[in-house]
Amino acid sequence: MRVIIEPDYAKLSQWAAEYVVNKINAANPTPEKPFVLGLPTGSSPIGMYKNLIKAYQDGRVSFKNVLTFNMDEYVNLPEEHPESYHSFMKNNLFDHIDCPKENIHILNGNASDLLAECAHYEKMIEEAGGIDLFIGGIGPDGHIAFNEPGSSLSSRTRVKTLTTDTRVANSRFFGGDPNNVPKLALTVGVGTVMSAREVLILCNGHNKSRALQAAVEGPVTQMWTISSLQLHPHGIIVCDEAACEEIKHGTYRFFKDVESDYLI
Ligand code: GLP
Repeated sequence: MRVIIEPDYAKLSQWAAEYVVNKINAANPTPEKPFVLGLPTGSSPIGMYKNLIKAYQDGRVSFKNVLTFNMDEYVNLPEEHPESYHSFMKNNLFDHIDCPKENIHILNGNASDLLAECAHYEKMIEEAGGIDLFIGGIGPDGHIAFNEPGSSLSSRTRVKTLTTDTRVANSRFFGGDPNNVPKLALTVGVGTVMSAREVLILCNGHNKSRALQAAVEGPVTQMWTISSLQLHPHGIIVCDEAACEEIKHGTYRFFKDVESDYLI
């Protein structure tokens, strides 16, 4: 696992966006062989999305031959709701880049048959040839996508009940009341994320420091689903200084040392 420690959120966002731009350009995608990108929502990726939009506007990258698969979506929240992940992605990325509508995949939390929706999503990922780069954030309890503590580390796309912790954390987007946060979500599984050829996790802020510690120093455990990244052959965490509060001084120095010679 690589751990990239950037001074602050702005630098972390820049680093992540550059990484994505370089990956897409290096793949030189075509309609026959598109680049397949897994995408997150939440506050963590907003800075990266801003930088990606800027890179597109500057002509440094195109999303014409990129297929996207989002991580998750609330159940029973209308797509037009300002806090649906459909709205989030439209407002923060898709309305500002050249990714064709038909290339964009987001789970439908209003499907009449949720199980069939999840199975179909997995099938679409498989038909796309798998995900080249899955980008994610982490919840303060170490969840990845909506794979809450206790989720199977081999799980695939499915319906999940959100924990009270997550509903409290996300209540900031729902008028501050956890009761307004949907109780269920559709989410890719830990196994779905880990099947990607590369996984890039964004982790910023003091409130993520316990999750970062568990991800990097702790054992692989279902109670911190992000810890499964330790088993991935190409896992990267890009974090800021604030998130490093709980990792050991030696761990911090180790990653600073090995990354100082690494060129992205
Ligand atoms: C939600 C999302 C996760 C995200 C997490 C952290 O629970 N389902 O994918 O990583 O929030 O969000 P934030 O980036 O706002 O801290």
